[in-house]
Amino acid sequence: MFITFEGIDGSGKSTQLSILAEQLIHGGFSVLTTRDPGGTDLGQQLRHILLHHSGFVSQRCELFLYLADRAQHVEELIQPALARGNIVLCDRFIDSTIAYQGGGRGLSIEEINHLNMQATQGLKPDLTFLFDAPAELLLQRAKNRSAADRFEQETLAFYERVRQTYLDLAHQEPRRIQILDASLPLVTLSKQVDEIVQGKLKASC
Ligand code: TMP
Repeated sequence: MFITFEGIDGSGKSTQLSILAEQLIHGGFSVLTTRDPGGTDLGQQLRHILLHHSGFVSQRCELFLYLADRAQHVEELIQPALARGNIVLCDRFIDSTIAYQGGGRGLSIEEINHLNMQATQGLKPDLTFLFDAPAELLLQRAKNRSAADRFEQETLAFYERVRQTYLDLAHQEPRRIQILDASLPLVTLSKQVDEIVQGKLKASC
């Protein structure tokens, strides 16, 4: 089973991924946790460029670097883990590119969908959690927490477009994408995540 965690920076998705991984491992499952971009050695280098390159990066170059990272990630790590029967928990995946490069930057979503399919060889998550809350609230959290990267120079309007694109995606694919309220306490959210995953696991038995 392939589960992805999505949301604006500061949404708490990475914390929820770690909590779920611990619970699943405790329940006897083999779990691979990974992140996009940066899940492989090559991907780490691409992540560094994507988040910290100080010069001009064209929007299309940025798009193709995310896709290059994803192509490597799927082939080197995610597909082999799924083939071994692992549950794969991935911090961001295809929906981030639609939300950030499509919604945020304004590149064609139709084209991104096509390129995402090429990069992943058609692999889609079985389940995606979207941790949603007003962009202003999440950005404040992100700023208090981490060192600045290229995306933190973006405007609130950029993040509002990212949020809206995520919500549109969730409405288009309600069976795959579960919207959770990222402003809820951590424990409440982790219970909701666990219940949804347990339901999926039972249904797949
Ligand atoms: P992270 O810190 O949550 O791992 O995300 C790194 C940044 O990369 C985050 O600001 C979102 C951005 N991003 C994109 O713009 N497009 C993508 O396809 C992905 C995976 C991430």
